[in-house]
Amino acid sequence: MKLEGRVALVTGASQGIGHACALALAREGASVALAARNRQKLDELVAQIAAAGGKAEAFVMDVTEEEQVKSGIKSAIAQFGKIDILVNNAGITRDQLLMRMKRADWDFVLNTNLTSAYLCIQQVIGSMLKQRWGRIINITSVFGQMGQAGQANYAASKAGLIGLTMAMAREVASRNITCNAVAPGFIETNMTAALSDEFKESAVENIPLGRVGSPEDVASAVRFLASDDAAYITGHVLNVNGGLLMG
Ligand code: NAI
Repeated sequence: MKLEGRVALVTGASQGIGHACALALAREGASVALAARNRQKLDELVAQIAAAGGKAEAFVMDVTEEEQVKSGIKSAIAQFGKIDILVNNAGITRDQLLMRMKRADWDFVLNTNLTSAYLCIQQVIGSMLKQRWGRIINITSVFGQMGQAGQANYAASKAGLIGLTMAMAREVASRNITCNAVAPGFIETNMTAALSDEFKESAVENIPLGRVGSPEDVASAVRFLASDDAAYITGHVLNVNGGLLMG
């Protein structure tokens, strides 16, 4: 178990990619602080991890609320003693062509997807600096790399996460803390469930591996970046997109 003794905090752990990341990290031996808004779903995941012999605790927080992030992460550090691995996964979409996009939808997406990562990093970085070991993993998106019509807010937030990743990687590298991004392509979760079958079929046509991804495909990349196997990787954007975007 490559993450034995490590403590991970995963935002948006109640479902989808965050849920799969929490399970994968726990299976590798990490204790996992599960952060999201839905207490019931988090408690179910705590029970699932415990039943498999792992350790997890739920910390209910809305990542757009600074005070909730501060108090939630403070409680997690009090409970586990430290945070070694932060996975900034919580994210939303509010799609609309820019000319019709409401300011509220712009702000909501930027706050949830990007500002939340700044807030969470600020709350865990002290713990990582103290022990001179840390892993920050930001879940960005292929659309932060190539853009997508109707998703100016989302693409801007995800491109912003890539900039944040590289800046943080430079700031904390000397303390043995790495900061990387994982850029999923088309992953089957609630976020993509609402898309029409036609859209999904045409998306798959552009994916060289010929299928959409699963949350576990993304979780495997996160688990790797969290481990000592990825000790010499920082400031990197790891594509998990079936070949949809290369280079
Ligand atoms: P999802 O909708 O199933 O899960 C999103 C998670 O974020 C949920 O657990 C939700 O509760 C949490 N969340 C949202 N707002 C929150 C808030 N204010 N406070 C706390 N938690 C909050 O979606 P999915 O697909 O699992 O997305 C996870 C991440 O992966 C997101 O950042 C998304 O942008 C990214 N992603 C997803 C792709 C896909 O095709 N599904 C592709 C590329 C990136």
